[in-house]
Amino acid sequence: MQSLIAEVQKKREALEAGGGEARLEKQRAQGKLTARERVAKLADADSFEEFGLFAQHRSTQLGMADKEAAADGVVTGAASVDGRLVHLASQDFSVLGGSAGEVHSLKVADAMHRSLKTGSPFVFINDSGGARVQEGIDSLSGYGQVFYSNVLLSGAVPQISLICGPCAGGAAYSPALTDFVIQTRKAQMFITGPQVIKQVTGEDITAEALGGADAHMAHSGVVHFVAEDDEEALYLCRRLLSFLPSNNLTEAPRIVTDESIDPNPALNDVVPVDTKQSYDVRDVIAGIVDQGDLLEVQAGHAMNMVVGFARILGRSVGIIANQPAVMSGAIDIKAANKAARFIRFCNAFNIPLITFVDVPGYLPGVEQEYGGIIRNGAKLLFAYSAASVPKIQVILRKSYGGAHVAMSSRDLGADCVLAWPTAEVAVMGAEGAVEIVFRKEMQEAEDKAKTREELIARYREAFASPYVAAGRRLVDDIIEPASTRRHLARALEYLHSKRDHRPPKKHGLIPL
Ligand code: HXC
Repeated sequence: MQSLIAEVQKKREALEAGGGEARLEKQRAQGKLTARERVAKLADADSFEEFGLFAQHRSTQLGMADKEAAADGVVTGAASVDGRLVHLASQDFSVLGGSAGEVHSLKVADAMHRSLKTGSPFVFINDSGGARVQEGIDSLSGYGQVFYSNVLLSGAVPQISLICGPCAGGAAYSPALTDFVIQTRKAQMFITGPQVIKQVTGEDITAEALGGADAHMAHSGVVHFVAEDDEEALYLCRRLLSFLPSNNLTEAPRIVTDESIDPNPALNDVVPVDTKQSYDVRDVIAGIVDQGDLLEVQAGHAMNMVVGFARILGRSVGIIANQPAVMSGAIDIKAANKAARFIRFCNAFNIPLITFVDVPGYLPGVEQEYGGIIRNGAKLLFAYSAASVPKIQVILRKSYGGAHVAMSSRDLGADCVLAWPTAEVAVMGAEGAVEIVFRKEMQEAEDKAKTREELIARYREAFASPYVAAGRRLVDDIIEPASTRRHLARALEYLHSKRDHRPPKKHGLIPL
């Protein structure tokens, strides 16, 4: 027995060394952690339980017959993160470039199924040259298993992808099918790389400009968080998990760090009464949520819409807010997509939605219309209407037109609508409205400028306040900004047992 045990131990150590010290050192020299170091940094101390260490490919082609691939290039198992179960897979670039062969991918899919069976989040740390070329169609089939499993898990358990190295070709579609993508500045992700693009379209671009983290944040919106390096990516992953429930049948853990609901007088001075003046809506959010702490999602994408996770009296909430500091907070295609996706995630995982509104409308323009602002803007309406979690709307200032309706209005099922005294709920701003309603009067007026000013003032008096909306029960209460946290804390408490049953169907048809 002793010699058998010793043999197991020896084999284990050899396998845990991955592709060997030289390759691991090469990885470290690039400022990256190794696959196992990443797992160790993500998991609570001593909690990782590996399965599949002894798994081996069965490929015989192209020199593979006598090639051993430790753990077939991917470390898989279960661990606890902040005391809660997760399942994970971490690709080992030191073993055949982390390439995904048949067994490699079946190991990943197996970890995913364990996530599903146990109701625990799945974390996939990507660092791979993609489909293992030597295994041909088997490696493609393996990827297919992973994609299919991504979809099975979607909406049942949270899925988070970390991109810590190359992620090219079809391999990029697994992260794309997950809920959150965290990419480091040392990693690149694309379907076709710079060389193929050069051959096919003649365009010249570097790998970094094409598929770097900043490019995906700013342009494609594929990435939700940019991390400087692996350590930061793993930290972000742990922080993100702390806001999420383990699965769709439970709630996010309540982590109380801030029990005060005393008024915050500073909030009375954040939003300028003059609607032409801008401000940073994140200052409003910071003045309301626990410890002023917002985990912003896609902070560098469609910055005219702010979305992220925060807590109120320890309860996780999803925040959606127009950002007047960028494009006056107008909603464009990217902002609508960003918010709609976030809302659907929160709804799937029982996270209440709090929406802060200061919006002049949907963004006008040919580019927006040709790009499908109708179809994409409708996603926001769809996502809010379909969401059955508690929905709270706080109207800070402007709330005009279709954008007013779209931003979690009473008519889309908001359970609680609060307005600040600066709120203006109207079909459009006063300046635009008088041009339409009083065009004739203005044309005929002797002093056009004076008449225009008078008409604007008349319109403002009639509509630019929260009172008309409150009179119609479209606003539940008009509150002092300083007391917003208390109102939200109470609304969340009273809405905790909310049930909202919808007609049975396979699924709704969000206008994709
Ligand atoms: C087999 C691979 C591999 C792959 C890398 N390796 N990618 N082996 N299949 N896909 C091996 C290399 O041969 C090398 O082995 C080792 O991993 C390290 O690779 P290097 O090239 O030395 O590393 P580096 O210079 O850092 O470059 C990394 C890389 C490059 C940019 C990822 O390796 C590369 O371009 N690989 C091919 C990428 C690719 O085209 N993949 C297929 C995509 S198609 P040795 O033994 O020499 O150290 C795809 C389809 C999926 O993924 C479809 C799903 C539906």
